[in-house]
Amino acid sequence: MDLEKLLTDRLAPAFAAVAGRPVDPVVRRSQHADFQSDAALALARQLGRPPRAIAEEVRERAELADLCASVEVSGPGFLNLTVADRALGALVAALAADPRLGVPVVAGPETVVVDYSGPNVAKEMHVGHLRSTVIGDAAARLLEWLGHRVLRANHLGDWGTPFGMLIEHLVDLGETGAARELSMGDLDAFYKAAREKFDADAAFRDRSRLRVVALQGGDPATLRLWRLLVTQSESYFLTVYELLDVTLSDADFRGESSYHDLLAPTVDELDRLGLLRRSDGADCVFPPGSVRRDGEPLPLIVRKSDGGYGYPATDLAALRHRTATLGATRLLYVVGLPQRRHFEMVFAAGAQAGWLAPPARAEHVGFGSILGPDGRMLRSRAGGSVKLVGLLNEAVERATALARERNPELGDAEAAEVGRAVGIGAIKYADLAGDRRKDYVLDWERMLSLDGNTAPYLQYAYSRIRSIFRRAGAAARPDADVAPVEPAERALAFELVGFPAVVDAVAGSLEFHQLAGYLHRVAVAFSAFYERCPVLRADGPVRKSRLALCDLTARVLEQGLYLLGIRTPERL
Ligand code: ARG
Repeated sequence: MDLEKLLTDRLAPAFAAVAGRPVDPVVRRSQHADFQSDAALALARQLGRPPRAIAEEVRERAELADLCASVEVSGPGFLNLTVADRALGALVAALAADPRLGVPVVAGPETVVVDYSGPNVAKEMHVGHLRSTVIGDAAARLLEWLGHRVLRANHLGDWGTPFGMLIEHLVDLGETGAARELSMGDLDAFYKAAREKFDADAAFRDRSRLRVVALQGGDPATLRLWRLLVTQSESYFLTVYELLDVTLSDADFRGESSYHDLLAPTVDELDRLGLLRRSDGADCVFPPGSVRRDGEPLPLIVRKSDGGYGYPATDLAALRHRTATLGATRLLYVVGLPQRRHFEMVFAAGAQAGWLAPPARAEHVGFGSILGPDGRMLRSRAGGSVKLVGLLNEAVERATALARERNPELGDAEAAEVGRAVGIGAIKYADLAGDRRKDYVLDWERMLSLDGNTAPYLQYAYSRIRSIFRRAGAAARPDADVAPVEPAERALAFELVGFPAVVDAVAGSLEFHQLAGYLHRVAVAFSAFYERCPVLRADGPVRKSRLALCDLTARVLEQGLYLLGIRTPERL
């Protein structure tokens, strides 16, 4: 259990006895002692007593003898708590003895759908899809590790009117030619060429329109061509996932088309529930709370005037399917913030229809954009959108070059391996280390730097510990007897025992920067510890205790980085 909570639990009854009602002791890490509680100050005004007198009484009543070496009243009425070395050692040892590092499997596992990645067929994945893939994968890894049943849903854009022109373009190129172009991953060129013909050529436009009708009507020949486009794109996306080292597989594709048969029943049900209204020839729902700037209610169009269903209807059908059929109680949508309004409306409509009712709830796990060095939306030199694979390859190349430079002894295979782990790790970490709602600037130098809040810094800390153990030899097993005494040892121990609380908080907030920031603090504390406290040169129990701290640090870093989707090579 984490210390803040432990101390809070001990102080709370004492405060309650003094105040005559429950009081949050507000325990925090402090510069002046290990922890500080300042609840007496706020209480003083309410009770009309001097804060120091309150703190003194709490100090006398609280049962802290086994946890604290000293409890002092200081300043205007703070309680300064110094944790006993032995108590701290016991907490560290308990964490070290637990293969799950003090993080329990949840008592009530939920079925969680994580909707993420969601690229569009015959279109290049852009950096927005990168963010969705990275953040969504971290969510899936974390919730799965906690024991939830995680269903990954890759909501591929594989349906809709553009497929008329895409199929006709495929027909023009011939199937083999088209397949060749698509398998090279040149999706944008394919899409653009189709678009250009569509804009310039009326006959092509007509063919495309007929093709959409044939597709929607289930014409077998058309469906076969459509399948061809989808499978080509899917296999391309899978190569990106492989490079990106994410847990998405071919079994997770849940394209928009897979909800096709559910669209009519979904919209019919909305109709039966009296939620449909006609507006400009389209069938709409007007979810409560969504209004335009002028106060007019905003429609969510579920059936267009031509009878077709679009993106909103598909999301409603998917939502209904996820709760009613899959039994999910937590629905996550890892999609950029520009779609915030869309999801607000979908969730509100789902709630109105009764498809989204407690305990089931939906969350839009929104995120900002990636910006170029100029602070504007990331663009390629030619002005187009940046190709995701290009970005990833560049990261790996840069990291491999750096690895070779730093460590000329690395063989080719190992350099490539390290380059991949560090390059991809750097990209992912840069994405996860800041508040996801904010935009961030893609900065190669910074994200590949060995200093600072970066993946390489954390990977380096991990590899240093592994090297300590290589030098210590196989005999130096970490021992369960941990006695942190030196300030730097204690500081590291305090960070390590905080792991479960951070994991728990992030499972709720899905703010991965909290986890990243925590891991960074661990690595910083480790490096201060390693500078000041000799490990291999220490003797007997001290050496054993320090090795145990090293080992636990490595495990926390490894597990934490795993949850962020980042590998930890043995040497950098
Ligand atoms: N294909 C969409 C896009 O590129 C993202 C899909 C997000 N998921 C969802 N259920 N709508 O914007």
